[in-house]
Amino acid sequence: MTIQLNQQRLKAAVIGMPIRQSLSPMMHGHWFEASGLDGSYSAVEVASADLENQVRTFQQTGFTGFNITVPHKTAIMPFLDKLAPSARQVGAVNTVKIGSDGKLIGFNTDGVGFIKNLKEQARGWPRDKPALLLGAGGAARAAATALLNDGVPMIMVCNRTREKAQVLADNLGRGRITVVDWSERNHAVTGAGLVVNTTVLGMVGQPQLSLDLAGAAADTVVYDIVYKPLNTDLLQAAKNRGLQTVDGLGMLVHQGAAAFKVWFDMDVSYDDTLRAKLMTALGEVNT
Ligand code: ATR
Repeated sequence: MTIQLNQQRLKAAVIGMPIRQSLSPMMHGHWFEASGLDGSYSAVEVASADLENQVRTFQQTGFTGFNITVPHKTAIMPFLDKLAPSARQVGAVNTVKIGSDGKLIGFNTDGVGFIKNLKEQARGWPRDKPALLLGAGGAARAAATALLNDGVPMIMVCNRTREKAQVLADNLGRGRITVVDWSERNHAVTGAGLVVNTTVLGMVGQPQLSLDLAGAAADTVVYDIVYKPLNTDLLQAAKNRGLQTVDGLGMLVHQGAAAFKVWFDMDVSYDDTLRAKLMTALGEVNT
């Protein structure tokens, strides 16, 4: 049985470029089915020049909201009427809710997805030691914000372009973020309780991340937000050393679940059926 709200099929979407590979339509389709809501979720490829037009189209055609992915997460901000604290803090928007008055509110659910996945997959990590974040893009900003909000006392941010790490530390740091030179990343691993890759390195089609885990303490947790492939070389190297690892698929799912909640005020879960569907789509073996 499906529930009709306002006699209209609910509509949501994700916009980005490229977008063909997105797992979000499958994931939200699963949740529509599981929750009994009659809705659709599409993936729309949008070039930067067409961003505003697309937003207006969503507004005029009764969409409840939409997700935004690369490369539009900050470019979308000028078109919005209001930012929720999550988006203001991170400085990027991955979820927009369209109110019944047509007003657009921007949210960021990446940070929630990041921390929920970490807590679900890791049995805890040594919080008395700093967390080491590799990267300083939007994903790193969401991760840093989530860790600080969760009370992590210290974060080291290490990025190829040092100035971007410095901006991140200045904007978000509250005195709890230090910047580490990219050339010092292997050394920084030695003191870290949590090591997180938020760069694109290790993703299909990208170069590998070169990171030596030899100095990592036995209780260090290694987290890669890349989920294609799911078992990245970094995670495999960590497993080879007996370290706890966290893969990136749960972050995708939990940011999506938080967006579903924003739009439809409904809690949805990361059940085994969904995991199996996503693993199949990724070409991974479900273990
Ligand atoms: P996202 O919003 O998903 O975080 P992004 O803002 O494009 O994406 O950030 C990509 C991250 O991967 C950046 O930290 C980037 O480093 P720079 O700031 O120096 O560009 C990092 N990255 C991409 N290619 C890299 C490479 N070849 N070596 C090291 N870091 C790389």
